[in-house]
Amino acid sequence: MRFSIHSILGACLLLLQTTWAISGRHVLKTSNAERHVKPLLKVRQLGSAQQSLPVMVNALEIMQSEFWSGSNWPLGIDWTEAVFNTIEWAALNSLTRYGGPSTTATVNKYYSQLLNFFDGEDVTTVMNEKYDDMQWVVLEWLEAIKFLSAYENSPQNQKYITQFAHRSRQFWDAASQGWNTTLCGGGMVWTWTLLPYKNAITNELYVSSSIGMYLYSPGDSIGSPQIAAHDPKYLNAAIDAYQWLSTVGLTNSQGLYVDGFHIAGYQNASDPGTGNCDQRDESIYTYNQGVVLSGLRGLWDTTGEEFYLNDGHTLVSNVIAATGWISSTQQNPAWSGLGSNGIMQDICEVTSSCSQDNQNFKGVFFSHFTAFCEPLAVGEKEGIIFKGTQAQADVHQGKCNGYLAWIQHNAQAAYGTRNSTGVYGGNWDVPAADAACSSPPQQPAGSSDYRNKGIPSNWTLPGQPASVSKVGLIGTGPICPPNTTDPNTLGRGRTPETQAGGLAVSMALVQAEESNYD
Ligand SMILES: *[C@@H]1O[C@H](CO)[C@@H](O)[C@H](O)[C@H]1NC(C)=O
Ligand SMILES: *[C@@H]1O[C@H](CO)[C@@H](O)[C@H](O)[C@H]1NC(C)=O
Ligand SMILES: *[C@@H]1O[C@H](CO)[C@@H](O)[C@H](O)[C@H]1NC(C)=O
Ligand SMILES: *[C@@H]1O[C@H](CO)[C@@H](O)[C@H](O)[C@H]1NC(C)=O
Ligand SMILES: *[C@@H]1O[C@H](CO)[C@@H](O)[C@H](O)[C@H]1NC(C)=O
Repeated sequence: MRFSIHSILGACLLLLQTTWAISGRHVLKTSNAERHVKPLLKVRQLGSAQQSLPVMVNALEIMQSEFWSGSNWPLGIDWTEAVFNTIEWAALNSLTRYGGPSTTATVNKYYSQLLNFFDGEDVTTVMNEKYDDMQWVVLEWLEAIKFLSAYENSPQNQKYITQFAHRSRQFWDAASQGWNTTLCGGGMVWTWTLLPYKNAITNELYVSSSIGMYLYSPGDSIGSPQIAAHDPKYLNAAIDAYQWLSTVGLTNSQGLYVDGFHIAGYQNASDPGTGNCDQRDESIYTYNQGVVLSGLRGLWDTTGEEFYLNDGHTLVSNVIAATGWISSTQQNPAWSGLGSNGIMQDICEVTSSCSQDNQNFKGVFFSHFTAFCEPLAVGEKEGIIFKGTQAQADVHQGKCNGYLAWIQHNAQAAYGTRNSTGVYGGNWDVPAADAACSSPPQQPAGSSDYRNKGIPSNWTLPGQPASVSKVGLIGTGPICPPNTTDPNTLGRGRTPETQAGGLAVSMALVQAEESNYD
């Protein structure tokens, strides 16, 4: 064993199987409707450090004690900080739902910290970044609104909600400028400052941020013109974006989302080449499998169309298979597309060559996965949230229950990467590090891997200077260190991005265990 602390901590986490305490009726509130979730949710007893809810709380505490300055996370960058904020608000939502009264002090402590990020965020800079960057900002403040709406209806919180709603709206408006139907029949470009590139992440974000605006924004009373809650333009944008995303041909033979499309021969608006999405970049990343999931869930909540949920479950099944997961007793040690040994990995994690961007991807995946598998609301259609039948809720929950063993396996692996300060690493499949060293996995042919290697010079618009790559690449992998070396110290090592990944997977585990019923 390369890294003995791994086995000890891993074994501790194996004790996660725990006792349950049945709580009274649990009422989940959204901004617009009460959601009575049946059967009754179970609240975990917080008796022992080996249980998953304290593990999640600890990941949150370490995120803040190690990486929070008082107004932001100085080691993060604009979009990674927006994701930290989203994941932490979601963790607070999870704590209020599942933590019971003993976690109230924890919730209050971190909620008041996160409020400071509203002023700590560098909005001017993000407004000038790419369309994906802008949409992480939409999502973070919607997540905060969900928390504040459910937590305490005070005048102070109403004031925050108003401000957060305005910022979400501003960033959604700015991002929507990237949607373009002339090229490729639809889809959002990553940016207009490079050759048009219609990538999965920007468009998945458009599905998720649009349906999020529809469901959770209370409207905007600050901006001009003012808008009311549940503006149908958001719903229409989400439907159109998913329609485009799911038919343009962005999935590979394993049913995973590849990265995106260029347009062959594009010169400029008057000479757009083929005008079609026909030059595909085959790069595979974990986060491209995640963001669409929360969008699909929101589309189901709004429309009640079952195919949205079914598409999500199909994607999740493809993802789990691509980690080499066969069953809880059998996993493939060979690289399977998105990991090995049943553990989700990006290729750069295995080869210690991740950029700061890519270090953030698994946290993105697990937080959107968690949103997808939230228990369905059951009851009559009320307001704008579709409330499915008990049978529909059971089918969805049954499928989500089927992911529990895989989530546990991943959470254990992640937990095992913590150093003695409690900071998570991003290379969760530590036992595979030696095999990966002699035979490192590779991105498929036809991949630029721009997320780790920087933007290729031929992505520049004709006549424009080559763009400066800002990926923050550290680590050249594959690295074959002595067996005693902790691979999570290689490359960029442990960072707030890898910590957010640990928090997100433990959040997925808490929900999977708490919502599991037969
Ligand atoms: C567009 O590109 C073509 C070359 O393919 C060039 O002849 C033309 O001048 C360009 N048009 C504009 C508006 O830049
Ligand atoms: C889409 O982008 C092209 C190329 O820049 C531009 O010519 C066209 O007007 C845009 N179409 C729409 C509908 O925005
Ligand atoms: C850039 O060049 C690579 C290598 O020749 C090629 O595979 C890729 O398609 C090109 N990308 C664009 C956008 O033209
Ligand atoms: C490292 O461990 C692997 C087995 O995990 C073994 O095959 C290899 O020989 C070891 N290398 C060294 C340098 O000890
Ligand atoms: C754990 O990792 C963090 C982040 O790299 C680092 O700041 C801290 O010093 C590490 N702890 C130990 C005991 O090495």
